[in-house]
Amino acid sequence: MASCFGLVAAAAFALAGTAFAAGLLIGRRRARRDAVPDLGPGGGRADRGTDADSLSLRLAEMTARTNDRNNYVNSIFASIEDGLVVVDPAGQVVLFNPKASELLGLGPEVFFEDRAPEVLRREPVAAVLGLCANVSEHRVPEVRRLKAAQNRTFEVRIVPVADKYLGNRNFGSLAVVKDITELLRMENVKKDFVAAVSHEFRTPLTLISGFLELLKTQDGMDDRDRSRALEIMDLEAERLKRLVGELLALSEIGSDLPRDETEFDARTVIADAAESLRPLAERKGQAFTAELALPPCTLRGNESWFFLAVKNLLENAVKYTPDGGSVALTARRRGQFLEIRVADTGVGIAPEDRERIFERFYRVEKARGSGSGGSGLGLALARDAAAIFGGSVTVESEAGIGSTFTLTLPAAEWRTHDGA
Ligand SMILES: Nc1ncnc2c1ncn2[C@@H]1O[C@H](COP(=O)(O)OP(=O)(O)OP(=O)(O)O)[C@@H](O)[C@H]1O
Ligand SMILES: [Mg+2]
Repeated sequence: MASCFGLVAAAAFALAGTAFAAGLLIGRRRARRDAVPDLGPGGGRADRGTDADSLSLRLAEMTARTNDRNNYVNSIFASIEDGLVVVDPAGQVVLFNPKASELLGLGPEVFFEDRAPEVLRREPVAAVLGLCANVSEHRVPEVRRLKAAQNRTFEVRIVPVADKYLGNRNFGSLAVVKDITELLRMENVKKDFVAAVSHEFRTPLTLISGFLELLKTQDGMDDRDRSRALEIMDLEAERLKRLVGELLALSEIGSDLPRDETEFDARTVIADAAESLRPLAERKGQAFTAELALPPCTLRGNESWFFLAVKNLLENAVKYTPDGGSVALTARRRGQFLEIRVADTGVGIAPEDRERIFERFYRVEKARGSGSGGSGLGLALARDAAAIFGGSVTVESEAGIGSTFTLTLPAAEWRTHDGA
């Protein structure tokens, strides 16, 4: 049986000819008669030698041209990035391209009725064939989403196919199969993002409008309460300003707009970021050190994004380290790379949170309750900025002991001494 199958398969492949070479599989049923050129009266039979010679030359030329055209059309079919499957009115698969083979697991066996059922009974192939039969019968296009293996989702569009040369004869249907798993994931990310942004805005806005209402209606409010209400409103307004700033920076980093890129000295920017956090660390009684043990280093890119990335790492270190702890920044040269490490003796990050903290709006539960007022955007910003510079941000941490974040960026230039 196996050898018989092999023989039939070989014959089918030979029939498929150039189409197969182009990566397209065509079932054994279709050998279009109308592709044969019209040779005029006499059916192309010639009775004189010279006529016969010129006729056979013409015939060879026309056959070559037809083959070229077939090749061309088949190559286009084969390179289409959606899966294409043509099913005849009897429900038999007659043609599919390599993408359909990849998505649906179709192989040449589908052309052989005795071999095919197992492949064709598997989902989502069975569902596609069912829809094709429906469309073929009712001549109305359909669009469906189907679940596939490994949690993937396919969108299948099925259109009726008619022979445009032979009086609209029913040729069955064409299924166009697209893997939309990634598209759906991005849609969900967008939805989650919008939901999270709205939530982040709602909390401070509710507080501000609540206190405003209170101030308007409570004439007899004492000075202490009044100034406490103003303080909270101020804090929440600050939080909103910061949130808007972070969202703008994130959208700027992620946009395709021309970037404001310059060459700048990394050491100056790192020192500025460290100085901007020193007062907060001192207020918390932390040992705060910045060791810039590196030669002058030129970076190419957006200076303010680099500043934001370093500042966010430092700010987190100070924020998530209890009073009296320590925060240490070190900047070094590692080959062509600039490596900035920010180590703290803070609350640490549990293994299951170590990748998630880089997601937009993700905050570890404890941080939410800490009253630190962040939105969970700082690390997303740092990672996006690092990626734009062609670098990365990684973290090592032990819960309860501390964390070390490492920002690694390729330098545009290392100078050997300050004056260079
Ligand atoms: N050095 C650190 N030590 C312990 N936890 C950290 C540290 N840095 C970040 N985290 C955790 O990662 C979460 C995400 O950090 P990220 O900087 O993105 O947001 P945030 O600090 O909460 O808010 P934002 O930076 O937007 O003001 C934090 O909420 C915190 O739970
Ligand atoms: Mg932060």
